[in-house]
Amino acid sequence: MDGLNFEDTSSSFIGVNFLWMKWILSIWLILLAIAIFYYWKWSRSRTVKLINAIPGRKPLPLLGNLLDLDVYNEEFLKMMTIDWVKEYGPIYRVWLCTRPFVTLSSPELVQKILASSKHITKSSDYLNFSNWLGNCMFTSTGAHWKNRRRLVTPGFHFQNHNNFIDIFNEKSLNCAAEFERIIDTQSDTEIDVTYLMAKCALNIICETAMGQQTKLEKEKEIYVSNIHRICQIFVERVNRPWLSNDWIYKLSSLGRESERCINALHAFTKKVTRDRREILERHPNTCFDKIESSKIEKGKPQSKSRFAIVDWLIQASNKGADLDDNGIREEIDLITFAGYDTTSAAMVWFLYLIAKHPEHQQLIMDELDSVFGGDQDRPCTTQDISELKYLECCIKETMRLYPSVPFVMRSLTEDVEIGGYTIPAGVTVVPSFYAIHHNPCVYPDPEAFKPERFFPENSIGRHPYAFIPFSAGPRNCIGQKYAMLELKVVFANMLRRVEFSVSEQVISDAPDLGFVLKPKHGVRLAISKRLNKS
Ligand code: HEM
Repeated sequence: MDGLNFEDTSSSFIGVNFLWMKWILSIWLILLAIAIFYYWKWSRSRTVKLINAIPGRKPLPLLGNLLDLDVYNEEFLKMMTIDWVKEYGPIYRVWLCTRPFVTLSSPELVQKILASSKHITKSSDYLNFSNWLGNCMFTSTGAHWKNRRRLVTPGFHFQNHNNFIDIFNEKSLNCAAEFERIIDTQSDTEIDVTYLMAKCALNIICETAMGQQTKLEKEKEIYVSNIHRICQIFVERVNRPWLSNDWIYKLSSLGRESERCINALHAFTKKVTRDRREILERHPNTCFDKIESSKIEKGKPQSKSRFAIVDWLIQASNKGADLDDNGIREEIDLITFAGYDTTSAAMVWFLYLIAKHPEHQQLIMDELDSVFGGDQDRPCTTQDISELKYLECCIKETMRLYPSVPFVMRSLTEDVEIGGYTIPAGVTVVPSFYAIHHNPCVYPDPEAFKPERFFPENSIGRHPYAFIPFSAGPRNCIGQKYAMLELKVVFANMLRRVEFSVSEQVISDAPDLGFVLKPKHGVRLAISKRLNKS
């Protein structure tokens, strides 16, 4: 009897289990059928038809071109900006699973997007920065973006350039002195220049944006290492599509690490804003940092005031602008982020290129000697800077070859006719500056370093969107003039004192395609002192 009972129980148990399995299987089959139906419907949708009319690699169902894109970083950049442009032309599409991207790489096509005041919405990928940068001008769109941009723009006005140039001079002369100290004290004068140039760019942006509250080296280093980590996390998140869901991301170790970095970044800028506000309240008329200009200009001691961009924003907020302390923090975080990595990458690429091309370095030095009369110490004035024409061509050629921001992404809010195709609303378009700058139809012999391309006589007839490292149109870089001035001052001060050269085993030009285009393995250069010509 017992045995019979046991068999009965087990067979009913198996029966119940089987029933459950049938149910689960049926539910799965129904879900699969629904998914297949939606996929079938989606694959016949207007968006998919319009996107597939644009040339590009054949996509796989569901995966799209994911497998084509699974290549090493350096190869990825070449494939997207050179190989596929050759194969498919200046407009091509890529499917990242079921998400389409349309890449543009001719000045004419890119102008159509960037020049328009309609296509100013950033792609949703940039919203990954929102946890950190909030609703700043970089991540926002429409009226909010317009308002923020209008409030921040005067801080970068030409009138403030004299104020910035003092800081550029001071920090870059310090940087040149650090190079000289290495030459004097080290037997090996072959160094990776990345660290010192990054430090120079960081000191400059921290002081122009936040004033002298940011003097502590350790605090700045922590601040910047958090910025670096956030940018890496941004790229890592884009590369792991399953983390695009905010809930999953927040629970992941990457999301938790990002939160830690963001809290530290916010604490830093909040403190700076609070301290500056207090100073402004105590001294409403002499609000800016008082510095002895004798520290900058030898033999001419007099007290000068320096203002920081944060002061500008606090004053605007005090005068009733729609900007609270949170908004100020957002914009200062953005300016520091946007102005640090981009310029430090441009500095490193420039030194690498002129070291590799000593004939051009010599021409820059000759120009500097003629403008400064061989004086190695005199700080640059805006007048000097306007005379450094050859230096400017070399900087532009550097940014052509290695634009710090190689592409931007815009989300279309309406259909656009472009290059004979219709790109539907909702799709992400990718104006690729790197691809335009390396397009042989725009720049013959595109991989060669030829600063003379930017001589006025050689620029005649070039399309206005053929050289756009700072983007263009209403959402271009707000710091474009600031950045060009900064780079010129830094190089004018460095190259009057130090010379750079490469030895065979130390060159590296593999660009690392992150948010900013940087040399993958750093740049090791041999440094030596220039003889004093005065
Ligand atoms: C070599 C240096 C620099 C390069 C190559 C560069 C490039 C760019 C590019 C390509 C954009 C994107 C525009 C778009 O999405 O269409 C941008 C935006 C921006 N840049 Fe720069 N930038 C540089 C330096 C700076 C500096 C020094 C600052 C500030 C001090 C700055 C502040 C900004 C801001 C605030 C935006 C956002 C503008 C907006 O969304 O309206 N940039 N930059």
